[in-house]
Amino acid sequence: MADVTDISIYKEALSQFATGVTIVTCGSEQGPVGITVNSFTSVSLNPPLVLWSAAKDSKRHDYFANSNHFVIHVLKKQQIDLCSAFVKPTQGFEEIDWQYNSHGVPIINDCLALFECSFYSKHEGGDHTIFLGRVDSFNIDKGEPLIFLQGKYT
Ligand SMILES: Cc1cc2nc3c(=O)[nH]c(=O)nc-3n(C[C@H](O)[C@H](O)[C@H](O)COP(=O)(O)O)c2cc1C
Repeated sequence: MADVTDISIYKEALSQFATGVTIVTCGSEQGPVGITVNSFTSVSLNPPLVLWSAAKDSKRHDYFANSNHFVIHVLKKQQIDLCSAFVKPTQGFEEIDWQYNSHGVPIINDCLALFECSFYSKHEGGDHTIFLGRVDSFNIDKGEPLIFLQGKYT
C-alpha cells in the first residue's frame, strides 16, 4: 500500500475519480466572484442540499464564507476556456455573458445546468471549508458535460 503522506501519489490516486466541472459564483462588494470547482456533489433530495468545498488559502474563500447565496454552474464539454478563466487569479467575468440574479449573484449564460442556492451551513474540512447550499431553483440545458479525470479534461 502507498503512504498517504506521499502527496503526489495520493493526488494521483484521487485523480482516478472522474468528476464534472463547475463554476461557483457569489456577489461581493468588490464585484462578481467565481471559482472553478470539482468538489460539487448532491447531498440530500429532501430538502434539496448540495455541497462544495473551498480551499481556506484561496483568495476567494472569504467571499463565499460571507455570502448568503451562491450559484453552481455545471460546464459543457466545449467550455474549457470558461473553466480556465476561473482558475486564474483574475476576476474571470471580463469576456463572458452573465447577469446578476435577484440575490446579486452572477449567473453565467449557456451552462449545462445551474443551481441557485441559499447558504445552508458550513463545516470544518481540514484545509478546506465545506459549504452546503439549499437549492432554490435550477435550470438544465442540452449538451454534454465537461469531465475532469487524471488531471485532464476529457
Ligand atoms: C478542475 C479543477 C477543479 C477545482 N476544484 C476546486 C475545488 O473544488 N475547491 C477549490 O477551492 N479550488 C478548486 N480548484 C482551484 C480553483 O479553481 C483556483 O485555481 C484557485 O482557487 C486559485 O487560487 P485563488 O483563489 O487564491 O486565486 C479547482 C481547479 C480546477 C482546475
